[in-house]
Amino acid sequence: MTGTRVVHAPPATRPLDIDVSGVDTPAYIVDLGALRRNLQILADVQAQAGCKVLLALKGFAMWSLFPVIGEYLSGIAASSVAEARLGREEMNKEVHAYAPAYSPAELAEILTLVDHVVFNSFSQWERLGEMVRAAPAVRAGMRVNPQHSEVEVPLYDPAAPGSRLGVPHAGFRPDLMDGLTGLHFHTLCELGADALQRTLAVFEDRFAREIARVEWVNFGGGHHITRPGYDLDLLVGLVSGFRARHGVDVYLEPGEAIALGTGVLVTSVLDLVHNDVDIALLDTSATAHMPDVLEMPYRPVIEGAGEPGEHAHTYRLGGLTCLAGDVIGDYSFPRRLQIGDQLVFRDMAHYTMVKNTTFNGVRLPSIAIHDPADRSIRVVRRFGYDDYKNRLS
Ligand SMILES: Cc1ncc(COP(=O)(O)O)c(C=O)c1O
Repeated sequence: MTGTRVVHAPPATRPLDIDVSGVDTPAYIVDLGALRRNLQILADVQAQAGCKVLLALKGFAMWSLFPVIGEYLSGIAASSVAEARLGREEMNKEVHAYAPAYSPAELAEILTLVDHVVFNSFSQWERLGEMVRAAPAVRAGMRVNPQHSEVEVPLYDPAAPGSRLGVPHAGFRPDLMDGLTGLHFHTLCELGADALQRTLAVFEDRFAREIARVEWVNFGGGHHITRPGYDLDLLVGLVSGFRARHGVDVYLEPGEAIALGTGVLVTSVLDLVHNDVDIALLDTSATAHMPDVLEMPYRPVIEGAGEPGEHAHTYRLGGLTCLAGDVIGDYSFPRRLQIGDQLVFRDMAHYTMVKNTTFNGVRLPSIAIHDPADRSIRVVRRFGYDDYKNRLS
C-alpha cells in the first residue's frame, strides 16, 4: 500500500481447508465448520453469562445461513427496514433495530418487524415516541455515548469527540425516560474483553442513575469474541457481574465475531503487466469486493503469499475498476504467477458481501457454502447483468 496511511494487521484467523480448484471465480466461500465453531463459542457465552447474543446484519447478512445461525444465537440486530425485514423473514427470532435517525415512514415499518427499537437522540424520541407507545409489543431504548474511546482509527470510533452516535451524559434527559426500558452503547471495533472492561467502568460510573431505571442494556458490537486468544472468561465475568449488580438483561450484538475467519474470496489472475514493478490484474477489486482493504485500510492475507521480497516473485495485485488506487497490495509468491492462477484471500466473509458494489459494472463475486463433511462447495448465488441493471434506472 502507498502514501501515509496506516495499514492495519488483519485479525489473526486460522486457514480453512477448502479445495477451491475448479471454482468459478470470483467467489466468496463460507465454511460451515468454521461458522459452527464461532457460533458454538457465542452460544457458550450466552449460556455461561446469561445474556443474549444477536447477529448484527451490517457485518454479515448471508441469509442462506440464517437457519444455522438461528440454532445458536438469539436473533439479529438491524440498522434499517431492509435488515429488520430480512431478519424477521429468514430467521424469525428476536429482531432489534437501531439507526442514527429514522424517518416516520421507516419507523412505522420497523415497528411491524422488531422486538426492540433503539433511538439515537431524545429529539427523535420526543418526535416519534408516540408511534412506539402505540406498538405495545415493541420495547424502546436509547443509545448513549459513554465518551470513552478504545478504537484508534477515527473512522471507526463512535466515541470520538463530536460523534453523532449516542447521547452523551450531559445531554441525557431523565425527564423523558417514560416509555424507555433499555440503554444501548456501542463503542468498540475488533476489540478484546479488556476494552469492554474499561468501557463498562466508565459507562457504569457516568450512567449509574439511568441504568437503575431500565430493564435491559445492549453492549453493542465490536467484541472480537471468536478471535484466537480472546479472553472469554473475562467477558463472561463482566456480563454476569453487570447483570448481578443491576438486575438487567444484557444483549451483545457483534457482527464480525460471527463470521470471523469463516470465509475466503477466491479470485483468478486475468493479466500480468510490468510498469517498474510486476503487476497482476485479478478478477476482483479492492474497492468493489473488499472495500475495507481501502477504508480501514488493512492488508488481507493471501494463502501461500508473503510480504514483498519474502518469496522470489513479488507482484502488485490490482483490481478491475478504473480507480487508480484499486490495489490490494504488494505480495510475493514462491513461483511466478501465471494467467489463470487462483489466489485465495483469507477472512473475507464479514463486511464484504454486505458492502460490495457494482462500480464499473464489475460482476459481484458469487456466494458459496463449503461443507467440510463431504468437502462440497454449493454456489447459493451467482450475480450477473440484472443485478447491475436493477440498482439503476
Ligand atoms: C450499533 C452497532 N452494533 C453492532 C455493530 C457490529 O459491530 P462488529 O461487526 O464490529 O461486531 C456495529 C458496527 O458498526 C454497530 O454500529
